[in-house]
Amino acid sequence: MKVTVSRKAHFNAAHRLYNNDWTDARNAKIFGKCANPNFHGHNYELIISVKGEIHPETGFVMDMKVLKQLIHEEIEEQFDHKNLNEEVAEFKTLNPTAENISVVIWQKLRSKISAELELTVTLYETPRNFVTYTGE
Ligand code: NI
Repeated sequence: MKVTVSRKAHFNAAHRLYNNDWTDARNAKIFGKCANPNFHGHNYELIISVKGEIHPETGFVMDMKVLKQLIHEEIEEQFDHKNLNEEVAEFKTLNPTAENISVVIWQKLRSKISAELELTVTLYETPRNFVTYTGE
């Protein structure tokens, strides 16, 4: 029997979507307003889900206090009120799309959570646009 527990989190961050190998015109065509050289911000909403067996002694899949602290240290402290392109090492050479941000978040958390637990990252870039990464 496996149960999924989830924790919501939030960060505000700025980014610019841009491919260095392309002309400004092509970047503008593909990324639209998101290619704005002056950056723009999003209110990112994050859901971290952990799936696994219920531990017989605690009744927990994972201690949510631990998960909360992990998200705070590894994600919120690193991303909140940052310019992702310029201040977060992973995005120096990686376009900070919602897809890539969700993969980076997954990678940051994976090694900190017991390997028996499945990890899913869901990231909302807007209330209607969101991406999911499960490590595949
Ligand atoms: Ni954007």
